[in-house]
Amino acid sequence: MILSGLEAVGDDPILLVSTLFRADDNPNKVDLGVGVYKDADGNTAILECVKKAEEYLVKNQETKAYLSPAGNPGFNDAIKELLFGTDHPVLKENRVVTFQAPGGTGAIRIGIDFLKTCKPDATVWVSDPTWPNHYGIVDAANLTAKTYRYYNMKKGLFLFDEMMEDLGQANEGDVILLHGCCHNASGADLSNEQWNLVADFMLERKLVPFIDIAYQGFANGIEKDAYVVKLLCDKLPEAIVASSCSKNFAIYRDRVGAVSIVSATEDLSKINGSHVLKVVRSIYSMPPDHGAAVVSHILNNVELRNLWIKEVDEMRTRVKEMRHKFVTQMAEKAPSSDFGYIAEQNGMFSYLTLTPEQTQILIKEHHIYMMANGRVNIAGLTLSNMDYVTDAIASLFN
Ligand SMILES: Cc1ncc(COP(=O)(O)O)c(C=O)c1O
Repeated sequence: MILSGLEAVGDDPILLVSTLFRADDNPNKVDLGVGVYKDADGNTAILECVKKAEEYLVKNQETKAYLSPAGNPGFNDAIKELLFGTDHPVLKENRVVTFQAPGGTGAIRIGIDFLKTCKPDATVWVSDPTWPNHYGIVDAANLTAKTYRYYNMKKGLFLFDEMMEDLGQANEGDVILLHGCCHNASGADLSNEQWNLVADFMLERKLVPFIDIAYQGFANGIEKDAYVVKLLCDKLPEAIVASSCSKNFAIYRDRVGAVSIVSATEDLSKINGSHVLKVVRSIYSMPPDHGAAVVSHILNNVELRNLWIKEVDEMRTRVKEMRHKFVTQMAEKAPSSDFGYIAEQNGMFSYLTLTPEQTQILIKEHHIYMMANGRVNIAGLTLSNMDYVTDAIASLFN
């Protein structure tokens, strides 16, 4: 027998939180665990622009024949524009290829596997903390992961100086995995000035950016959130960008993302593109169609695109409102607590500066579910549950 001798892998902590939440029959229970956007009623609804695009596709799509390994060309061009705009040097110089991928995760996996083809002994620097799958994917490619300090969870502090100090240890040709915006899970982003310093530093040290952008539109708007992509790809000769449409189109289960490779020259771009497609063929041959066809239709139709921008604005604004309400209520109800940093952060996630014991009290006694390390999804807060949640957290301080 060869299918034996393994130890079972433990449940993913986030899935465990979801399971516990579902099993809890307390009517006041609140889910701040799972990483999806929720609207003012606590639902992860389908966007209107997506419904409209799906109706269009049902009526007009003529074939379900295979896509190519590169995916839907209309989608790829539209994503390229979302990331780089219309007149970025890498577009003018034909130095970027963008390929559809199954979700942001698939895009990261393709990007990392391609990196392995280019540099089998590459070192990838990952922020501490980060989205845990970053480690899983780097590990799956047998590349070396190193960490750079990024955020102090206990104090709610972004550690820019420490980040730069640790990146100072990186060697020429090392790859730096950066969160394009809405860092998961801290919510702490670099300012544009800090990104400029990082870009200059990486140029000087010959470091290569791998930008994971899974929340474009959730920090300051679709265009503004692409700042780091445009900046780094302008200043540095090469980059890998993995983008996701899961959150900003709320099409989580349709698995839509893209990997973009920026190369130093047009000739290299062609060669590199061919290797990315070789990686794709060996894993899933070609990506699934539906979600990317929806996104392509939305982004290539003025009316639907405007509706999408409005819907993304609504999602972002609601999360920001919840952040501010939470901070105001906590300051009133527990003056000795200090959650002011939550209002400054971006995207859906933040860490509550609580001890593991306090987190367990919230879960077990108040039925408020979150990650054991205090990571919460702010989008799980609504006007209906805000009082309940802030009362419960305040009770830990009073
Ligand atoms: C930082 C980060 N990158 C990538 C992803 C992957 O997104 P997708 O669901 O599109 O695979 C996520 C999803 O949570 C994420 O938080």
